[in-house]
Amino acid sequence: MAEPQGLKILTYPDQILREKAEVICDIDEGLAELADKMIITMQDAPGIGLAANQVGALRRIIVFDGNPSKPGGNPRVLINPEIVEKEGKIVHEEACLSVMDFSAEVTRSEKVRVTGVDQTGKPIALDAEGLLAVCLQHEIDHLDGVLYIDHLSSLKRAFYKRKLKKLLSGD
Ligand code: NI
Repeated sequence: MAEPQGLKILTYPDQILREKAEVICDIDEGLAELADKMIITMQDAPGIGLAANQVGALRRIIVFDGNPSKPGGNPRVLINPEIVEKEGKIVHEEACLSVMDFSAEVTRSEKVRVTGVDQTGKPIALDAEGLLAVCLQHEIDHLDGVLYIDHLSSLKRAFYKRKLKKLLSGD
């Protein structure tokens, strides 16, 4: 059997990254296949999380590493994820597979409770803190068309836009 292939990751300023993903009603074979491919894509990158918008699918599904401090060991799928509780503040240096050559500190909630269903349709309630909490907030933002750079000051965002322009023009 052929090895499943990873997917192409869209990068800023691709407009699909700005769209809101749709709630998933049916967990069918196509969705299971998308989830598998997203996990491969995340691990190949490598990254600790990936949202469907990033591979051009506007559906509310994310994959992430359940143990992000030791990536690769515990890939998980969350469908229709929602943050239902949050607590505290954490500042963490973030990067994104869709935002080339950049990272910046973002302030988010330190602890979150996230609900959703897994790829078998089983309801999930996940209490996360630290890096995992940051990762989940970052990925759920993607499903709403929000990128981590949107949380930065306009000055820092302008800096990144200039940097990207230079990068893309090959200077
Ligand atoms: Ni991202």
